[in-house]
Amino acid sequence: MSEAVRTMMRMDAEAAQESAAQADAGFLWDFWYPAARSTEIRGRKLATAMLLEVPLVLGRTSEGKAFAMRDSCPHRGIPLSYGRLDGKVVECCYHGWRFDACSGQCVEIPSLSSQDKLKVERIFAGHFPCEEHDGYVWVYMNSPGTRLPETIPAAPALTVFSGKYKITHLSCELPSHIDHGIIGLMDPAHGPFVHQSWFWRKRSSIHEKAKQFEPIPNGFRMSPHSPSTNSAPYQLLQKITGEPVTTTIDFVLPNIRTEIDQSGKMWFSSRATVTPVRRDLCRIDFVAAWNLFFLPVSIFRIFGKIFLRQDQETMIQQAEGLKHNPRLMLIDDADRPAKWYFALKANLIESRRTGAPMVHPMDGPVTLRWRS
Ligand code: FES
Ligand SMILES: [Fe+2]
Repeated sequence: MSEAVRTMMRMDAEAAQESAAQADAGFLWDFWYPAARSTEIRGRKLATAMLLEVPLVLGRTSEGKAFAMRDSCPHRGIPLSYGRLDGKVVECCYHGWRFDACSGQCVEIPSLSSQDKLKVERIFAGHFPCEEHDGYVWVYMNSPGTRLPETIPAAPALTVFSGKYKITHLSCELPSHIDHGIIGLMDPAHGPFVHQSWFWRKRSSIHEKAKQFEPIPNGFRMSPHSPSTNSAPYQLLQKITGEPVTTTIDFVLPNIRTEIDQSGKMWFSSRATVTPVRRDLCRIDFVAAWNLFFLPVSIFRIFGKIFLRQDQETMIQQAEGLKHNPRLMLIDDADRPAKWYFALKANLIESRRTGAPMVHPMDGPVTLRWRS
């Protein structure tokens, strides 16, 4: 066996080990994740990001197309982000190997002499499908060591209901495993404790609620309903339009919570994604769009930041406790959505493993009751 082949085999073994470690991390592969804001990749700058513990280098070709490559040169592993982009090709800073930015294919190895027979075009830097929507660069993270499927679904896009609207983005990092980030996002019972503020609700306004949920593909929906009467912004909206407000909240795997509020011609649409960066770090990306003339972006951002900050501070505190691996519990009915999340995730992994259709953890609509 030649030395080169031996080296390659060792690398394959390392890759297998790496993918086993990644499988243990509780990530869901073969989905789109937001890697960065579109505004972070400008001109010939190379930006870095990390998704599911994969380091990425992001950039934009001179034609404006965003691309994502594994931030590691296939030659000797130096991050490609230290190299340069000429608008089409990324050049490694170490030995100058050059890779087509969109396909990852090697186009030149400067050290090769006229005697060398190495097939340069057979060498690829890791690359990932990349799309831009709503001001984010989305990257499709196919599982390590697998080929991309023939067709992949389009990256998620925010639902809007009119041609003109305001839009804004917020984000924050949580020092938590993705599962804690997600169940924190869908948990109704923390509201009166974590988010009590004069502009939203008082702790004393806590009351019993009943909400209907229904299964949807890869997720569940809080069926359209009139939002909580103890939230000031909804009351205001109803006063202005004179029409009832309806809210629909969906959660879909791997990590997307959308909320749509409508009242007459007025609408508000938001999406929060909790994206795994590493097994101990995730990031909430929140985007909201609306045509409510009375809600300026600046005001919304002030309140939005307070909200996210409250969640973030709580999760920083929780992380302190989780370091010691405590036993945890999920109770009915307030934690039922969290139970569905874990079941959806497990069932999806199982159906991918066996090739059988995915079993949905809900048989039909159910009403959950809790106080918040
Ligand atoms: S490490 Fe990139 S060209 Fe050698
Ligand atoms: Fe919260």
